[in-house]
Amino acid sequence: MTTVPEVLFKGVSKRFAANAAPVLDGIDMSIERGEFVSIVGPSGCGKSTLLKLVAGLSACTSGEIAVNGMQPKNAREMVSFVFQDATLLPWRTVERNVALALELEGRTRDETAAAVAKLLELVGLAEVGKSYPRQLSGGMKMRVSIARALATRPRVLLMDEPFAALDEMTRDRMNEELLRLRGEQNWTVLFVTHSVAEAVFLSSRVVVLAPHPGRVAHEVVVDLPYPRTGETRESEAFDALVNKTSKLLREAYRG
Ligand SMILES: Nc1ncnc2c1ncn2[C@@H]1O[C@H](COP(=O)(O)OP(=O)(O)O)[C@@H](O)[C@H]1O
Ligand SMILES: [Mg+2]
Repeated sequence: MTTVPEVLFKGVSKRFAANAAPVLDGIDMSIERGEFVSIVGPSGCGKSTLLKLVAGLSACTSGEIAVNGMQPKNAREMVSFVFQDATLLPWRTVERNVALALELEGRTRDETAAAVAKLLELVGLAEVGKSYPRQLSGGMKMRVSIARALATRPRVLLMDEPFAALDEMTRDRMNEELLRLRGEQNWTVLFVTHSVAEAVFLSSRVVVLAPHPGRVAHEVVVDLPYPRTGETRESEAFDALVNKTSKLLREAYRG
């Protein structure tokens, strides 16, 4: 039996105007179901653009992307996006922020309430459903944003520097929580970050993009066992992978 890759890039190029230089060029990559792939690369090399193509928010100029064998614009229900700034609606409570996507799907009030309660439980926020975003810490807001992304039960989670604004301790904790959640759900994750340590900690594979045009420069397979913990971060194998990836990233910066 052959399995369809969860996300497939075949010769993907993107330019924003006919006479403009390509932002992405010749991206070939196959991501299997359940993989956790991080993307690192210099600012402006096209990381966010790449995620938007997968989300069907923007179309490739040439080449092809398939999400579970489908064109991204037909696979939107399978995909959720988590952005860096948690972009919660300040006038809605935590519960009603998470409920938004479900309301838009036209689910009944009871269905929505039950689903929201479960999601808040999952991200450890059952107690703050009636609070407003401004009453929460950065880490809590991020968890609301993740709960909201999960409301539509995606198979593919796209995360664009979701933890960049958090302090290091909170970020480490969020990383562990994210892996715990993923362990229960079998998502495929495409994760953009500037932190090589974060990329290595989370991922089964780290893709290093080089700029002008954005292209895959290197891939590092992270063969550290899951579950990953504080011990993982202290291991020599982890250090070695971070050093190796950092070196490849520095090369990519040089172009
Ligand atoms: N909608 C757009 N129209 C024109 N140019 C864009 C648009 N979005 C991104 N770009 C350009 O594409 C390049 C890559 O941007 P982006 O994907 O945001 O990079 P990254 O996320 O790696 O920092 C940048 O030069 C940016 O200015
Ligand atoms: Mg970006």
